[in-house]
Amino acid sequence: MPVPKKLLQIKNLQVTVDGKTILHDLSLNIEPGKVYALMGPNGSGKSTLSNTIMGHSKYHVEKGKILSRGVDITHESPDLRAQRGLFLSFQYPKSIPGVSMSNFLRAAYKAVKKKEIRVFDFNKLLKQKMEMLHIPKDFADRFVNEGFSGGEKKKAEILQALVLDPSVIIMDETDSGLDVDALKVVAAGVQQLRSPDKAVILITHYFRILQYLTPDVVYVLKHGHLVAEGGHELAKRIEKDGFDEFGKNLSDPHAAKKRALETTHTAMGIEMEEGKPESEESPFAVID
Ligand SMILES: Nc1ncnc2c1ncn2[C@@H]1O[C@H](COP(=O)(O)OP(=O)(O)OP(=O)(O)O)[C@@H](O)[C@H]1O
Ligand SMILES: [Mg+2]
Repeated sequence: MPVPKKLLQIKNLQVTVDGKTILHDLSLNIEPGKVYALMGPNGSGKSTLSNTIMGHSKYHVEKGKILSRGVDITHESPDLRAQRGLFLSFQYPKSIPGVSMSNFLRAAYKAVKKKEIRVFDFNKLLKQKMEMLHIPKDFADRFVNEGFSGGEKKKAEILQALVLDPSVIIMDETDSGLDVDALKVVAAGVQQLRSPDKAVILITHYFRILQYLTPDVVYVLKHGHLVAEGGHELAKRIEKDGFDEFGKNLSDPHAAKKRALETTHTAMGIEMEEGKPESEESPFAVID
C-alpha cells in the first residue's frame, strides 16, 4: 500500500478548554519519515494540541479539522484514533494500582491492533522491547507507574510506544527528568520507531534530546498560535535566544501588560531595551 504524503493534517484548528480559547487558527502538516520538534514557552498550547489530536473529551474543536491519512477524525473517539496509529506519551503519566505493566500493555496491544496475542508471544515481544530500553525484568510485574521514578515513568511510556508501534508518535516532554544515559536510551528507542512510513513529534523545551534525534522540522507555538517554522537550526536559535522574538504582535495578557509598561516608561522618558533585529538571511519563517 502506498504511504500517503500526509500522515496528519491540522487545519485552521481553534480549540477551547472550559470555555477558554487556547489554540487559534492552527495549521500544520505531519509527513511520513520525518521527525518534528514542537516547541514553545510554558502555557503556549503544546499539550492542548497533542490532547486534541488524541481526542481528549475536555478539548473542544470549535473550528478547523484534524485529518489522519486524509480521513477527517476531528470527532472520532480516542480509541479509533489509536487504532489509526496515533500515539501520545503523556507529560505526566498516571499510575494504575493493581494492574501490572505486562497485563496493561497486552490489553493495550489487543485493543489498538484489534487482534489476539498469546501470553507467551506477547511476553517475548515485551522482553525484547524492554531489553532495548534497558528496563529491568521485574518491571513487567510491577503495577503501572506505581512507585516508578520520573525517568522510569518516561521509559514506560516509550516502552508502550515500542509495543504498539504507532505511525504517529507524539512525545510530550518525554525527555524532561531523564538523566543523560536514560535520555540516550529513550532517543535510541524512538529512533527504532523512525521509519519512512512513520512520523515522530517531540514536544520539548530542551535542545538536548534534539542532539540525539535531529528534527527535520521545528514548529514554534506561542499563545496558541503557530509563530515560526523552520529546520533544526531554529531549535538551536531558540536554545540561545529564547522565545522572545516570536509572536510579538499576539494579544495575550502578559504582552498587553508589557506594552502598557512600555507606554508608561516611554511617557516617563525611560528607554526600554530594544529587541534584536531580525537577521536578513533568517533560515526560518516567522509567522505573525
Ligand atoms: N481548564 C482550563 N481552563 C482554563 N485554561 C486552561 C485550562 N486548561 C489549560 N488551560 C490553559 O491553556 C494554556 C495552554 O496549556 P498547555 O498545557 O497546552 O501548555 P503547554 O504549552 O503544554 O505548556 P507546558 O510547556 O508548561 O507544558 C495554558 O495557559 C493553560 O493555563
Ligand atoms: Mg505541556
